[in-house]
Amino acid sequence: MILKNKRFQGWIGGSFLEWLGIDFVSRMEMLALSFHKDWDKLKVLRRARRERRSLVTNQEMFILHSLALGLRGLDGDFAEVGLYQGSTAKVICEAKGEKAFHLCDTFEGLPEPNESEKAIEKKGRFACSLESIQKYLGRYPNLSYHKGFCPQSVRGVLDDHRFALVHLDVDLYESTKQCIEYFWPRLVPGGVLISHDYSILHGVKQAFSEFTAGIQEQVIELPTTQCMLIKHSV
Ligand SMILES: C[S@@+](CC[C@H](N)C(=O)[O-])C[C@H]1O[C@@H](n2cnc3c(N)ncnc32)[C@H](O)[C@@H]1O
Repeated sequence: MILKNKRFQGWIGGSFLEWLGIDFVSRMEMLALSFHKDWDKLKVLRRARRERRSLVTNQEMFILHSLALGLRGLDGDFAEVGLYQGSTAKVICEAKGEKAFHLCDTFEGLPEPNESEKAIEKKGRFACSLESIQKYLGRYPNLSYHKGFCPQSVRGVLDDHRFALVHLDVDLYESTKQCIEYFWPRLVPGGVLISHDYSILHGVKQAFSEFTAGIQEQVIELPTTQCMLIKHSV
């Protein structure tokens, strides 16, 4: 499968071509969705895509929006790690109501990839400033920002919080592994941890495989690149 080929990923990752590919797929997805989904909801996705450069497709955004709507009645906060220009955060904001939403990023782009990821990812890729995101999401209530390498950036700050929805979009093995380890014990029963890139980035898949070897819950793979874990009980 070409999208999983490391040489191809290294060549196209973060480039205009990658964005063009995602944009093309998204247009096709939007066409398919428009036949049977609520147009008001699709407008939210279209606007988010128009306003900022995004690395997720429309179906992936649709799933995040639906989860945020469906889980906002649960106890616990929402969190996202990996914002880039803020598109997925914006879509979640549109559906979250009054929920507290924690936005975590280095705001300096990707941390150092490990040896096996160096061919496909680069430190500093996908950087966007905290100020730019704050301005973009300024009108939504109950947002808090956590700058730095997550989960170190939230240790001692969110330790007593519980979460209903956690969205990871961090691309790298170490980031994914550490974020799952931090957020999973804090997820409420019925809560969801969802990640982008599970089926195309080997580091992300490896982190999930290793973690789920030690718990009862298993990975639910979606038809997009995403996967999710649903917490059964405390
Ligand atoms: C692919 S981008 C996120 C795309 C975004 N969700 C969107 O809507 O297009 C990956 C982001 O993860 C961030 N990141 C990766 N590992 C991180 C970590 N451990 N802590 C904080 N941010 C991290 C990077 O700074 C970058 O902004």
